[in-house]
Amino acid sequence: MKRKLILDVDTGIDDAIGIILAVKSRQFDILGITTVNGNVSLESATRNTCKVLDLLDEQNISVIKGANSPLLRNSFFEHAVHGEDGLGGALQHASIRKQPDEGFAPDFIINSILNFSGEVTLVMTGPLTNLALALKKCPEIVKHVKEVIFMGGVVQGAGNVTPTAEYNLYVDPESARIVLQAGFASITQVGLDVTRKALLRDEHIALIEDRNLREFIDKSTCDYRKRYFERNQVSGCAMHDPLAVGVALEKKLVQTGQYYCDVETRSELCDGQLVCDIQNRLPAHPNVSVCTDVNTEAFFDLFISIMNS
Ligand code: BDR
Ligand code: CA
Repeated sequence: MKRKLILDVDTGIDDAIGIILAVKSRQFDILGITTVNGNVSLESATRNTCKVLDLLDEQNISVIKGANSPLLRNSFFEHAVHGEDGLGGALQHASIRKQPDEGFAPDFIINSILNFSGEVTLVMTGPLTNLALALKKCPEIVKHVKEVIFMGGVVQGAGNVTPTAEYNLYVDPESARIVLQAGFASITQVGLDVTRKALLRDEHIALIEDRNLREFIDKSTCDYRKRYFERNQVSGCAMHDPLAVGVALEKKLVQTGQYYCDVETRSELCDGQLVCDIQNRLPAHPNVSVCTDVNTEAFFDLFISIMNS
């Protein structure tokens, strides 16, 4: 029996590769891909998601639009990383066959979770607005979700937008708080601590046999890799969102610890920071399974084998 999955994305170069990994793994019954404002506008994220499904010739997977802004704040796009179109220009001239489906992502999330109680895994690779809206409308979904895996935050390292904040939590920290405080029995944080160790390099790309996929991944990540080198002096680019999908596929790829986590929302310098109580200093119970390390080689072995399946 395939596991039921909803992917929530702000597609985005690495979201796109995460979608490809999830679809090509054939391990999931993908109930739908929900889109959110984040790296690019909701419209662009939705269009990019449809283009990626066209690339895979998977037009039967539903794509449902969600929030077109963060809960309380203004949009904060990341064109510098993901390019004007959000895919590094890789599918700029592709004609679009797949059209988004009817509905609103938070409602789709609620209905899917209630229809398949205890069965749905949520993999969230954008700002957490859609899930926060779903929780506000129907708090009882917490009891019916199988698990939540989200890419966001950094525990023991620097942020990638501000000195302390990672992009997905920085964009919509109020939503992230709602999600972290909701009381999910199983919620896993996949943060920069581990995703920065999952660097896609030229040699990985060269191993992808399918020409369309190889060209897409090469082209979409080209500027991203250049920028990553300029900023970090390492060749490659971080597979943030694909690693979150990787964790859904295989928990053993990462080491985790149970900690209490919250998100800063009222600080001039630290808004969007994930605050993780690694020394148990607060009188609060652990609420998140935090990824502390990753087996990078095992992740890329899995990644390449799925790309070539
Ligand atoms: C996260 O921010 C986005 O730019 C990426 O798609 C990823 O989800 C990394 O901080
Ligand atoms: Ca993303």
